[in-house]
Amino acid sequence: MLAAGIRGRLAGAGPHESSVFRHGIASGDPTNDSIILWTRVSVDAPRTVEVHWQLAEDPEMTQIVSSGHTATDASKDYTVKVDATGAPAGKTLFYQFQALGTLSAVGRTRTLPIGQVDIVRFAVVSCSNHPNGFFNVYREIAARSDLDAVLHLGDYIYEYGATGYAAEDAEALGRIPLPAYELHSLRDYRQRHAQYKSDCDSQAMLASLPLIAVWDDHELANDGWHGGAEGHSQEEGSWAMRRDAAIQAYFEWMPIRGKPRGKKTRIFREFRYGSLASLIMLDTRFRGRDPQPYIGDEVTQESIDAALADPKRRMLGRSQERWLRKRLKRAADSKWQVLGQQVLVSQMISPDLEPLVDPDKPGVISKERLQGIIERSKKNPPSVLDTWDGYPVAREDLYADLGKYAINPVLLSGDLHTNLAAELIPENGQKPVAVEFMTGPVSSPVMSDVLPERKPNALRDGVLEQNPWLKYLDTRHCGWLCVTLTQDECVGEWYLLDTVKSRDFRSWIDKTLSVRAGEISNGFQE
Ligand SMILES: [Fe+2]
Repeated sequence: MLAAGIRGRLAGAGPHESSVFRHGIASGDPTNDSIILWTRVSVDAPRTVEVHWQLAEDPEMTQIVSSGHTATDASKDYTVKVDATGAPAGKTLFYQFQALGTLSAVGRTRTLPIGQVDIVRFAVVSCSNHPNGFFNVYREIAARSDLDAVLHLGDYIYEYGATGYAAEDAEALGRIPLPAYELHSLRDYRQRHAQYKSDCDSQAMLASLPLIAVWDDHELANDGWHGGAEGHSQEEGSWAMRRDAAIQAYFEWMPIRGKPRGKKTRIFREFRYGSLASLIMLDTRFRGRDPQPYIGDEVTQESIDAALADPKRRMLGRSQERWLRKRLKRAADSKWQVLGQQVLVSQMISPDLEPLVDPDKPGVISKERLQGIIERSKKNPPSVLDTWDGYPVAREDLYADLGKYAINPVLLSGDLHTNLAAELIPENGQKPVAVEFMTGPVSSPVMSDVLPERKPNALRDGVLEQNPWLKYLDTRHCGWLCVTLTQDECVGEWYLLDTVKSRDFRSWIDKTLSVRAGEISNGFQE
């Protein structure tokens, strides 16, 4: 099918060499015997395009394990998604597309292993903000040869326009948002996905590893829940139409299984890495989340308690909770139960920010808003009510389920633009029922950009002192998290970057923490 004579020459083709495949190639959602392959074709005029694909055991594309063809057109925004079946389990494989007489670059991917598995290693990322900085994290991950998959915990794109959040440096960096305004229509969301997929570091990462992604809020709109979002007002039109547009574009442009089904769209799903790990990806955002609590402008202990007490406020929604319980029971034959989800699980009480944060230093929010946050912090409320801290009854129920059904539960999170480790201890408990590893942002403004510190690490030190169950915190750097699972332990390594404002950067492992299998209740080991 693919021209044999030019196979070898194109096997190492770089991401920008093709005008047909200018948005790159990707793979995702592996099973034991299949993988989603993704690309997009660029055309000069509207038409239907036939696209051929091949999956092989070698990068020269000579040992073909599976192949086929499909068609795409404007109704799919010329995106191509194939479920390539017939693949061997636990193997590194290679794939390539052909359309309009052109071959794509060759991508590398990996299927899920079966049976006895000794080691699994993930890159865990979240919050990739294109206008705020370069995707240096993606470039670093692309260069690794020891990873099984990239787990993206959401905020894969941001919805804001050129005068919105985190766009101050966009012009200088050559990363002005497209379109230049906030996203609302299908056309808008498609154009933004196309811009993110045009980034060369994103293309390098996606061509080298399978992606397992869940959305957070910004794939749709800020601080979303099942029926709306803080970032969507009635003046902006119908929430249902905006949501459906964003979800359709997401399913077109991401190498994810399944189909968009409006508010019933299901992205929670499980990946089994043989007997070693069950990776359970959750939707804490749009499937069943009730609205975030409101503790009032005049914060008192009573207003905090009253806002948080409602036992009916759920984070996952009842149907996803039932699904999770079933999966946890079935995953009890796995050594590790890894829950990949969006938001901070641990309690995080705000310290009094007055001695820590300087409202006169320029930050990413207005001085007025910052002063409001500082004022409220004096009552030590939960730091952010959009996290599980706003859903304490549902969190206790989650902890009860983990205590009952999981053997070695590990929770992954992102969203907060902070690097963090937490031991998760129920309200009336003494010992952890699980541990939490949170990845920092790929390129979003970090927490210390939002809350400018009076002196370096003042915020970190204040938050750690207020929350002794937090075992690691960095509020100043973008980065990613490497998680390695073996029969004996789960190790988290936080890679931090000195800058995302230049493509020249330095990275280092800032912290390594592990938990031993069978000893979660002892918490982290250094
Ligand atoms: Fe984010």
